[in-house]
Amino acid sequence: MGRAPDAPSADDALAANRAWWDAAVPVHLGSDFYDVEGWLEEGRGPKPREAALLGDVTGLELVHLQCHFGKDTLSWARAGAGVTGLDFSPTAVDAARSLAARAGLADRADFVCAPVADAVDALGGRTFDIVYVSLGALCWLPRIDQWAAQVGALLRPGGRLFLHEVHPMSTALADDDLTVVYPYFEESAPYADSQAGTYADTTATEALPGEVTYGWNHSLGEIVGALLGQGLRLDLLDEHDWTSFPRYPWLVETGEERFVMPEDRVRVPLSFTLLASRT
Ligand SMILES: C[S@@+](CC[C@H](N)C(=O)[O-])C[C@H]1O[C@@H](n2cnc3c(N)ncnc32)[C@H](O)[C@@H]1O
Repeated sequence: MGRAPDAPSADDALAANRAWWDAAVPVHLGSDFYDVEGWLEEGRGPKPREAALLGDVTGLELVHLQCHFGKDTLSWARAGAGVTGLDFSPTAVDAARSLAARAGLADRADFVCAPVADAVDALGGRTFDIVYVSLGALCWLPRIDQWAAQVGALLRPGGRLFLHEVHPMSTALADDDLTVVYPYFEESAPYADSQAGTYADTTATEALPGEVTYGWNHSLGEIVGALLGQGLRLDLLDEHDWTSFPRYPWLVETGEERFVMPEDRVRVPLSFTLLASRT
């Protein structure tokens, strides 16, 4: 990972990212990390911590931005919400529709293929009770103000945003020695990443041989400020010393889908949870 020497245009960067995500979908569907078969067999719902934060969602309409192949989206359908997932990868959206059918949730789930920047138009101007966004979403978006504008327009009065995301401080740190090597604040030029494999399967080097993907970091203040700029109210901001995937290869897995710093290292924030609402 590092600054792209000849940074591509945002459109070219997004096209490269989309091709990479198309290739990642089949790898993720078969990975132990996502454990799709276990999720189907056990009928698992949303993560307990997230369900406790959002409360009873029965009958609510939820949109999941950057829904990938829909596992988290469909978990909310199991909890009683009517769900819509949006992702720019056609392969991911096809996989999400198939998963909905296999899980017997197709009548409560809709999946739309579009970039987040076009979410409001792609969803026909619909508004929702909950906008849900989870780990590994914002770093793929060039501008946080454009994302916040979409979130703001998708929320109906009383609607809530749930965001659990990689902490931008942790994105800025090198994988091995945690020195600051990547931008903390949003920059127009993306950083480049060419690791082979994915966070869900680092051995998938044939399917994902390390083509370059592009990301943009957004500081915590920029994320909060962009949401406040949409007239949303900040209800919760919690920085965590844990995350749900091996952000650094040497993180320690503790169970309950959590990875933490080893005890001999100074803790840095690894993820954060933010709740906001349209009053
Ligand atoms: C890390 S995954 C999200 C994972 C999700 N939290 C989960 O565990 O299922 C990121 C997703 O963002 C999607 N994505 C990336 N850039 C996007 C964009 N500009 N518009 C819409 N989707 C995008 C990718 O296709 C991918 O499915």
